[in-house]
Amino acid sequence: MTNYNSLFNRHFASSERLKNRAKQRVPKFSYEYLIEGCMDDIGLCRNRQAFDSVKFTPQYIRPNSTPSLKCELFGKLYSAPFGIAPIGLQGLMWPNAPVILARASYEHKIPFILSTVSSESLERISEVSQGTAWYQLYNPTDPAILSDLLSRLTSAQYQHLVITIDVPTFGLRPRDFHNGLAMPPKLNVKNIWQAILRPNWSLSTLRYGLPKFKNLEPYIDTDNKKLELTEFMNTTTMGPLDFDSVKRIRDLWPHKLIIKGIMSESDLQKAIKLGADGVILSNHGARQLDLGEATLPLLGKFSSYQDRISLAIDSGIRSGVDIASACGLGAKFCFLGRFFMYSVCALGNEGANHAIYLLKAQMMQVMQQVGANTLKDLCGKVELSITPRPL
Ligand SMILES: Cc1cc2nc3c(=O)[nH]c(=O)nc-3n(C[C@H](O)[C@H](O)[C@H](O)COP(=O)(O)O)c2cc1C
Repeated sequence: MTNYNSLFNRHFASSERLKNRAKQRVPKFSYEYLIEGCMDDIGLCRNRQAFDSVKFTPQYIRPNSTPSLKCELFGKLYSAPFGIAPIGLQGLMWPNAPVILARASYEHKIPFILSTVSSESLERISEVSQGTAWYQLYNPTDPAILSDLLSRLTSAQYQHLVITIDVPTFGLRPRDFHNGLAMPPKLNVKNIWQAILRPNWSLSTLRYGLPKFKNLEPYIDTDNKKLELTEFMNTTTMGPLDFDSVKRIRDLWPHKLIIKGIMSESDLQKAIKLGADGVILSNHGARQLDLGEATLPLLGKFSSYQDRISLAIDSGIRSGVDIASACGLGAKFCFLGRFFMYSVCALGNEGANHAIYLLKAQMMQVMQQVGANTLKDLCGKVELSITPRPL
């Protein structure tokens, strides 16, 4: 049995510690891009309130055993029921982050989802993940770009396409406005000063170069190269997502199709009708609709659909205990965004392995407490009852 407790860095054994370390190592403009939600950050609190409201029932009088974290999804066996959510501009938060995470995902047999607006190209990520990475699509405004992206994905042997549906408008994020976030970052006095205060980040950025939208670079017109982020997203990646447009993508894509951003029963029913293989119940880490619902309670509401479509979940997951909670409440799989980025920002190259080992150690610990040998055994040992607390 692998003892995960001896494999992670013991100084950073929680999300909060990783986040604090990340803050010390990353310039303010990119750290704030990572942590923020949308508008007043109420959704961020709701996501956490839901996970903090879970109660487990322990079971101690039973035979000794070693839990298994293994999980099958879309015909593939993963070492644990969690993966790395797509994060745009990863290289702005930590240089080379997509490569660090994609490589670790392959080595640890967990999925890594590459964002359309990543700072690394889908070709390079396929190479470092040995063809196991998934690709997240923002439907491009120009159908010719969609067609080219799909053929690049096929050539690079991608097997999983994740369509994100929850960005009909780009989230309004006060800190990004204040910081004038742009890609590549604006080299004004304020940003340069923030970078000087974070020498590890700056040296690493000098080594890997300023981050760019490598997947979209071939399609960005040269006059548009330094748009503010909101403007860039609005002009490039806001293609239609009505039923027929998604159906067209489904018809063009012969492999696994996953729809990310499902928060309502009607969208879930449409995903099934469209022939999606799975959905990710996600509120984009509370970055889009500040007064939306948390994702965890949706597992109970949508339990009757579990036999028809794979239900994965993200938003607010910060530990292996949260993953065990979600699995116990009916999630087939979990994705984490910020947690992995906190770890890479805090620990650089080591950060991806650290995050995976820590999540596994936390899962094992809680499963041993409640007497769950498999992920299925978690069902019935977890209860969710949310009492709203003052924000
Ligand atoms: C900084 C940041 C950038 C993100 N970029 C994308 C993206 O490009 N595409 C996407 O589908 N989701 C994106 N997301 C949402 C994540 O995929 C995921 O849904 C979210 O991070 C989950 O919440 P968590 O951070 O609390 O784990 C982003 C989230 C963050 C925090």
